[in-house]
Amino acid sequence: MQSFPNLDQLIPSDWTQLAYQTLQDGKAAFGLLDKTLKNRLTDFFLPDRQKKTTPLSAELTAKLQTLRKELFAVEWEDAQAGVYPVSLLFDHEWEDFLRYYPALWLDLPNVWQRIRQKKYQNFSPDIDLEGYPAYYLQNFHYQTDGYLGEMSANLYDLQVEILFNGAADGMRRRILKLVKENLPTVAEFSGQSAKILDVACGTGRSLKMLRATFPKASLFGVDLSPTYLRKANQMLSQELGELPQLIRANAETLPYLDNYFSAVTSVFLFHELPPEARQNVIQEAFRVLQPGGVFVICDSIQAIDSPDFQPVMENFPLLFHEPYYRHYITDDLVIRLEECGFRTVQTENHLVSKYWVAIKPFEA
Ligand SMILES: C[S@@+](CC[C@H](N)C(=O)[O-])C[C@H]1O[C@@H](n2cnc3c(N)ncnc32)[C@H](O)[C@@H]1O
Repeated sequence: MQSFPNLDQLIPSDWTQLAYQTLQDGKAAFGLLDKTLKNRLTDFFLPDRQKKTTPLSAELTAKLQTLRKELFAVEWEDAQAGVYPVSLLFDHEWEDFLRYYPALWLDLPNVWQRIRQKKYQNFSPDIDLEGYPAYYLQNFHYQTDGYLGEMSANLYDLQVEILFNGAADGMRRRILKLVKENLPTVAEFSGQSAKILDVACGTGRSLKMLRATFPKASLFGVDLSPTYLRKANQMLSQELGELPQLIRANAETLPYLDNYFSAVTSVFLFHELPPEARQNVIQEAFRVLQPGGVFVICDSIQAIDSPDFQPVMENFPLLFHEPYYRHYITDDLVIRLEECGFRTVQTENHLVSKYWVAIKPFEA
């Protein structure tokens, strides 16, 4: 069993900051190199794909660099201010990286074949497809077995870190401050320790961050994928701290009582849902939240407020199978949240992610 060491007490802050920047720069360089090599190979085997994507201008690339620096600056500030432990900034699944990175390359020919044959609902015969919503049975990201394979669960975090050049966890961590800022009112009224649910928890990265930030809270996670939940359970069991309760369930019909949670979070789910499912998930989050409770969503930036990033948003669903993304980027979630009864909906953006903070009012 490991526990988070208190880096603040062990090493001077300047050194820790330098180590953090170096780690992030290293991850970014690695991500870029990996993507460049994979893109070259993919362009060779699938020349048509290259023609469809839009190259990013120098100006846009520079803007992304600036936003990346801003994200890491705010990350560091929040850690220094005690929003979450500094050690969270260094949390990385190194063992998985060494163990599974070669498998990402070995899976590439399967990905190319799927793209060439346009087979995006392709699952191994031993996977039971009964009971899942039809929209879910997709090879999201062109992944072998979509979200239902054992290997897919092992490769997912690595894939996402590489996709965002090492900034995926940084973007996930932005939910922590938003939950923290809105949780005290909830805890005050409930008189109990906070109960936090992460919807579509996947392999448990956000739950791990929430546990380090709210060590006294009771944590819960739901996801439709049995293999991702198994992976989450494995990863969360490796460290001290209460094990979050993980349940396999559809986020559209949450298996919890009304008014149960102080906070509900959801990271990188909404762009993978068709519009009706997005509305159902918001409705369910509203139902299970206590009055005064907070719903924090993190997902991709949207065309409706980031027009400069249009080429990035156009390329994404071409490079990764994302059938609902084009609709998602034009979908006004503020309207959806307010239609379900949430009020005080605020939004903010960090790098290529957008965040919604919505409060369930006390009076209906
Ligand atoms: C892009 S991943 C995000 C996972 C995780 N939140 C993260 O930060 O990486 C999308 C996740 O949503 C889950 N998912 C998709 N549709 C769902 C639904 N209707 N109900 C529950 N989980 C769902 C998938 O199984 C997958 O784990």
